[in-house]
Amino acid sequence: MTDPKDRVLIFDTTLRDGEQSPGATMTHAEKLEIASLLDEMGVDIIEAGFPIASEGDFNAVSEIAKHAQNSVICGLARANLKDIDRCWEAVKHAERPRIHTFIGTSPLHRAIPNLDQDQMAELIEQTVTHARNLCDNVQWSPMDATRTEEDYLLRVVEIAIKAGATTINIPDTVGYTAPIESADLIRMLINRVPGADQIIFATHCHNDLGMATANSLAAVEGGARQVECTINGLGERAGNTALEEVVMALKVRNDIMPYHSGIDTTKIMNISRRVATVSGFAVQFNKAIVGKNAFAHESGIHQDGMLKNAETFEIMRPEDVGLSETSLVMGKHSGRAALRSKLKDLGFDLADNQLQDVFVRFKALADRKKEVYDEDLVALVSEQTSEG
Ligand code: KIV
Ligand code: ZN
Repeated sequence: MTDPKDRVLIFDTTLRDGEQSPGATMTHAEKLEIASLLDEMGVDIIEAGFPIASEGDFNAVSEIAKHAQNSVICGLARANLKDIDRCWEAVKHAERPRIHTFIGTSPLHRAIPNLDQDQMAELIEQTVTHARNLCDNVQWSPMDATRTEEDYLLRVVEIAIKAGATTINIPDTVGYTAPIESADLIRMLINRVPGADQIIFATHCHNDLGMATANSLAAVEGGARQVECTINGLGERAGNTALEEVVMALKVRNDIMPYHSGIDTTKIMNISRRVATVSGFAVQFNKAIVGKNAFAHESGIHQDGMLKNAETFEIMRPEDVGLSETSLVMGKHSGRAALRSKLKDLGFDLADNQLQDVFVRFKALADRKKEVYDEDLVALVSEQTSEG
C-alpha cells in the first residue's frame, strides 16, 4: 500500500522552460502533440507556456487547456496584473487550471525592477491575491530562491501563502545549490513558515553543475511533494531536471526513497524521442534512461553477463521505459557468446567450427569498423557458407 503523503506530483515544464532553450522552439501542432503525450503518461501538472509572451504561446496554452484529459494545465505570469489576467484567459478553459506567478527575490534579481524588500513584498501580496481571485489553484515562485537571504525568503513565502498560493515553488534558477542544501532549505521552510502544512512545496532545479536530479530528489527528502522537470532535461543553458531521471530513480531506488509518482514509465522512450525530434535537441548517446546507449552493451564481459542474467549489468528493465529489449552492440569488445546469440536472432545456428571462423573474421572487421551491423554479420555468414 502506498501512502498518499509519499506521492510526488510531477510538474512538466517542457513546453515553457524547455521551450525557452535557444533554438528549441516548437510549432503549435507539435506543442499540442507533446501536451497530449504528457497528459497520457500521467503528468500531474503541465506548464503549457507563457501566455503573455506571444500570440502563439497564448493560443497554444488555450488549446492545450481545452484538450487536456487529466492533467492540471498551468500558465506562467510575471508579477503584474496584466500578465496574470492574460494567463487566466488562456488556462481558464481547462478542467483544472492553474496560474503560476513569480518574481526574482534574490538581491541580484530585486535590483532589476529596483524594488526594495518592502516594495517587493507588497507586490507579491497584491499579485498573488489577484491570481487567487481568478483561480483557486495558484502557484507562486520566488525566482533565484537559493540565492535569496533566508529571512527574506521566509517573509515572502509567508506572504504568498497568506495571499492564497496553494503551491510554493522553490527555484534553483541558476543551478547553484547542492543536494544537502536543497533538502535543508525545503525542510527549513516547512518547519518555520506559518501555514506551510496547508500547501505543497515544489522544487525547480536547473542543471548548471549537473546536480539538478540529485537536488530535486534531495528536496523531496526535505519535504517537497512536487518536482518540476522537463523531458530529456530540455531547458535553458544546461537544462532543467530531467523528468525521466527523477521518475526512474524513485521507481528503482524505492527501497531508500519511499516516494512514488503517477507516471506510466513505459511511455518515457516515445515521448523522449518525440521531444528530441520536435525541439531539434538530440539526446546525447550516454544520457541516463533515454540515451541510445543507456541499455546497450558492447564489452564481451558485459554481453556474456547480460546473456546469462540481465540483472548483472542492468538495474532496470528496458521494457520499464518503453524499450522492447536491451541492445547488444556488436563491436571489437564483443565475445563469442554475444556473437552466437546475435547470429541465432538473425536465424543462423552455426556449429562450433563455423562460429569460430565467423568470429575471427568478425573481429577483423570490428577492428576496422566502430559498430558491426546485422547486415555485416549476415554477409560474414554468407561468405562462410559459400566458401565452406
Ligand atoms: O528557473 C526559474 O526560476 C523559473 C521560474 C520562472 C520558476 O523557471
Ligand atoms: Zn526554470
